[in-house]
Amino acid sequence: MDTKLTSNFPVDWEDDNYVTRREFLKFGTLASGAFAVGSMGLAAWSTVKERGPSFEPTLIALTSDIEPGTALPFNFPRATDLALLIQKPDKNYVAYARRCTHLSCPVVYEVKNSRLFCPCHNGAFSVEDGSVLQGPPPHPIPQIEIEIRGEEIWAIGIKFHEAHS
Ligand code: FES
Repeated sequence: MDTKLTSNFPVDWEDDNYVTRREFLKFGTLASGAFAVGSMGLAAWSTVKERGPSFEPTLIALTSDIEPGTALPFNFPRATDLALLIQKPDKNYVAYARRCTHLSCPVVYEVKNSRLFCPCHNGAFSVEDGSVLQGPPPHPIPQIEIEIRGEEIWAIGIKFHEAHS
């Protein structure tokens, strides 16, 4: 080969397909970055799975709006989601999603039986923890986490129960 040509183009055509060190490092850096971003995404997802999704806190009512042994309907977490705030006879507050876990009929609070009753197929849930007391509901009714802030009662999250197998 011509020596002038060889000095200007020192790489043979066969070697032209080899990846340069710079290209290799660039690829390695991009791959490491993608792996790091993927790892952070997995870590964030597992945190959400452990704690459950977070919701925008919502003012339900004032403590003066509800009497012991009664219930007050409200919507949470979305404006279309039915929920029920209950003040038990012992004056403690609890709240639940209002849709039955069987076929989504709205449940009602029965103070005398201390339960949430679904009239569609005689399903019932405990007012203490939302567990199924009777009927076809396949799993407990989701409990809404509430927080008392002075005179205000706020919905701040949802406790999801494990489904029965
Ligand atoms: S919808 Fe509630 S028991 Fe069937």
